[in-house]
Amino acid sequence: MTPVDEAKKISEKELMNKRPKSTKPESNISSGDKENDLRNAELKGEGVVISYGADQAVKGVDIAFPSNKITAVIGPSGCGKSTLLRAFNRMNDFILGAKVEGSLMYKDMDLYDKNIDPVEVRLRIGMVFQKPNPFPKTIFKNIAWAPQMNGYTGDIAELVETSLKRAALWNEVSDRLHDSALGLSGGQQQRLCIARSLAMKPEVLLMDEPCSALDPVSTSHIEDLMLELKEQYTIVIVTHNMQQAARVSDYTAFMDSGNLVEFDETSTIFTNPKEQRTEDYVSGRFG
Ligand SMILES: Nc1ncnc2c1ncn2[C@@H]1O[C@H](COP(=O)(O)OP(=O)(O)OP(=O)(O)O)[C@@H](O)[C@H]1O
Ligand SMILES: [Mg+2]
Repeated sequence: MTPVDEAKKISEKELMNKRPKSTKPESNISSGDKENDLRNAELKGEGVVISYGADQAVKGVDIAFPSNKITAVIGPSGCGKSTLLRAFNRMNDFILGAKVEGSLMYKDMDLYDKNIDPVEVRLRIGMVFQKPNPFPKTIFKNIAWAPQMNGYTGDIAELVETSLKRAALWNEVSDRLHDSALGLSGGQQQRLCIARSLAMKPEVLLMDEPCSALDPVSTSHIEDLMLELKEQYTIVIVTHNMQQAARVSDYTAFMDSGNLVEFDETSTIFTNPKEQRTEDYVSGRFG
């Protein structure tokens, strides 16, 4: 087991204990890699301010999500994690009174340029929400609908099956594909939404607490899937589960009160953070 694997096995109990700074395990992501990863990051925000009416929920965040890596966004409830994530696929457009300022870029695409079609943004940058939101249609149509609307010409039944298998749901629904998705349990609905996102083959996957309604077995399937997907995708996951962040992510962003407090390699954030506030949060002393 590599030191990083060990670091990622940090137990909740260990996280509760303040570790002496000298116990920082060696990371297999050297700081040179980190600089490279940040330089080459294709999804970036600069000076991002997001307000709901007069209230600023995100207060000037500069962040880059390294490509083909998993970045965990952590922080106390209400600190702006979902708001920030939604801005990257133009989902705040649907919220009356929400205003996004600053620069949000994906590759050379300015996500808020007036000539950019938000639909194209959402095709390339997929999102799985905190609360599952299946369409009131069959399980099959939940997955097939968007690819078909966007001109998918391949074998749609195969796409549905592959997407459901990747999201660890196939075995539970293969004999009821034409039943309503609303009859699924909350955890199944969440996996259906993950399958639906995957079927669109986005380039970036934003996941807002995708496992909060899942049991440990499904959670572990989704974590395995994320590790597999990062070969092709850039993944950002919001999670309140510190063990999950430590297990799956390469980088971690810690937010508090609308600010990005610290961004670093995950092993550094959990064992040797620079900011006291980060240390207090990851060790369970607040939040
Ligand atoms: N649709 C909305 N209208 C008005 N205010 C909102 C809206 N959505 C979020 N907010 C406010 O913005 C702030 C950030 O909320 P956000 O949902 O981004 O937090 P979060 O970090 O995702 O929290 P949680 O961990 O509880 O999901 C909070 O003060 C919240 O009340
Ligand atoms: Mg949230």
